[in-house]
Amino acid sequence: MILDAADRETFSLNDWLRGRPALTGVAPEWDLDTLPADPSTLFAQWMQQAAADGVPEPHTATLATVDADGVPDARTLILKAIDPVGWAFASTRSSRKGAQLAHMPAAALNFWWQPQVRAVRVRGPVEEATAEESAADLAARSPAAQADIAPGDWVRWRIVPTRIEFWQGSRDRRHTRVVYVPDGEGWSYAVLGDA
Ligand SMILES: Cc1cc2nc3c(=O)[nH]c(=O)nc-3n(C[C@H](O)[C@H](O)[C@H](O)COP(=O)(O)O)c2cc1C
Repeated sequence: MILDAADRETFSLNDWLRGRPALTGVAPEWDLDTLPADPSTLFAQWMQQAAADGVPEPHTATLATVDADGVPDARTLILKAIDPVGWAFASTRSSRKGAQLAHMPAAALNFWWQPQVRAVRVRGPVEEATAEESAADLAARSPAAQADIAPGDWVRWRIVPTRIEFWQGSRDRRHTRVVYVPDGEGWSYAVLGDA
């Protein structure tokens, strides 16, 4: 919705928010009979679809951590990779998230993609990568993005998922959720209705 100058003068946030539609996209077909055994395969399929459909930055997500008082915090960042250990992101040790992760090494990551009406939610303990992996992550950034980073301050972390939820919305409100949990050998999953 574009606001013209007159609209902007009379704009009321709360009026605008009231009744604002959500889930306005159209979800792709999702065959629940052919779900992959590994959630990272499904995530890759969804990411590929989002990218193909033109979602500008589908690799951005909200990362939640908790501080020393148990109060949650959240910010936007980039998913770097998914590897056999976990879901990787990177930042500075000296940041708020760095301090929070040092105190409580656990996090949640949330993606929301439109118009696919899809969200992915990951949570679990967080492990710090090796110094070599963190250095390689920093070296892969642009020179401008490497400036002002103190030696050893750039860290790659991985969420080791204990739960991964794939959520797909539907206009008729019959949303679908598929939850993967590790089962020791690999993954087990369940298809849930929406709550
Ligand atoms: C699209 C987008 C991508 C971002 N990617 C990163 C990232 O990969 N790593 C990072 O440290 N901060 C990233 N940021 C900045 C963070 O949102 C945040 O402002 C910063 O990391 C400080 O967070 P903290 O104070 O909670 O530690 C990004 C911000 C946006 C809007």
